[in-house]
Amino acid sequence: MSKLFNDSNKKGYQAKESRYDKMNYRRSGKSGLLLPEISLGLWHNFGSTDDFKNAENLLKCAFDNGITHFDLANNYGPPYGSAESTFGKILKKDFKPYRDELIISTKAGWDMWPGPYGNFGSRKYLISSLDQSLQRMGLDYVDIFYHHRPDPETPMEETMGALDHIVRQGKALYVGISQYSAEDTLKATKILKDLGTPCLIHQPRYSMLDRWVEGGLLDVLENKGVGAIAFSPLNQGILTDKYLAGFPEDSRAVKDGRYLKTDQIDEALILKVKQLNEIALSRGQSLAQMAIAWLLKDKRITSVLVGASRTEQLLDSLKALENLEFSKETLIKIEGILK
Ligand SMILES: NC(=O)c1ccc[n+]([C@@H]2O[C@H](COP(=O)([O-])OP(=O)(O)OC[C@H]3O[C@@H](n4cnc5c(N)ncnc54)[C@H](OP(=O)(O)O)[C@@H]3O)[C@@H](O)[C@H]2O)c1
Repeated sequence: MSKLFNDSNKKGYQAKESRYDKMNYRRSGKSGLLLPEISLGLWHNFGSTDDFKNAENLLKCAFDNGITHFDLANNYGPPYGSAESTFGKILKKDFKPYRDELIISTKAGWDMWPGPYGNFGSRKYLISSLDQSLQRMGLDYVDIFYHHRPDPETPMEETMGALDHIVRQGKALYVGISQYSAEDTLKATKILKDLGTPCLIHQPRYSMLDRWVEGGLLDVLENKGVGAIAFSPLNQGILTDKYLAGFPEDSRAVKDGRYLKTDQIDEALILKVKQLNEIALSRGQSLAQMAIAWLLKDKRITSVLVGASRTEQLLDSLKALENLEFSKETLIKIEGILK
């Protein structure tokens, strides 16, 4: 890398200069924005009840390996808001000189504060929530602001109008939507386009075990030039070797249990995961690596949004990028297991 951009005059944490050689970046739809093939989400492990040093190490490890995109939401924690506060502290301490090298996203759409204005998709909720998020993170603007989930009752024109307003205020550079159906995505992208603020990206749940996006959404995104960032690509850890021999004490299903419960992981599921694990091993990959590679084989996927509870996991997941190719036979075998 050019000496002009040498980081050595920066105090404190200095990111590895080789970071951009380790990652590929994909264009988000037809926008100007490139995102890393792997992004890091702060849904778990960044709350005020979690270990701060571990959170800091995860972010440094990510950035040192070319992960430039960090994904948050107003209600990540626990408690709600605290992942943004933790992130803000780490930004101030370690990442201040790197702000222009980072893509930081946050969202609003789920329950955040009591009363009628802290949930769903009103203009009132979205605009005040982003103001709170900026304050917690100590930022003037986020790079991407999402509506976190569709609101069946608020007119979509109001929600999209709020996103457009936020961009015009300079509080977000781009906007996105999450978990919108193919049909609602068509409507939302049209409204945003007419307002002059194109939809940058859609954030759906997508993994080998949850393939709803294949029923039309990915086609809509491709047609409309919108990017796709797949969340929970490991199905919260199920698509790894961690549950093959029971329930580890330090796993999300055991130690957290809010969103992933042990009774969701039954024998039939583990049987499938075991078979997938065999295929991964035959490719020289861990199952986590194969699950990520399987998503990235589709060029419509801009980025895969992983979580990690330790740096070792993130380093393991990053190795997925070494092999994104699948033979026809392997894909057929995988389909056979998943059906
Ligand atoms: N838009 C939305 O509605 C929405 C909803 C959910 C999530 N998200 C976003 O998506 C991000 C990722 O979601 P997620 O955390 O569910 O993703 P995930 O990547 O499917 O699961 C992450 C979990 O899997 C385990 N893990 C990760 N890498 C591993 C590896 N290499 N080997 C073994 N285990 C590994 C860890 O669990 P253990 O704790 O068990 O170690 C880790 O916390 C979130 O942080 C958030 O930014 C968005």
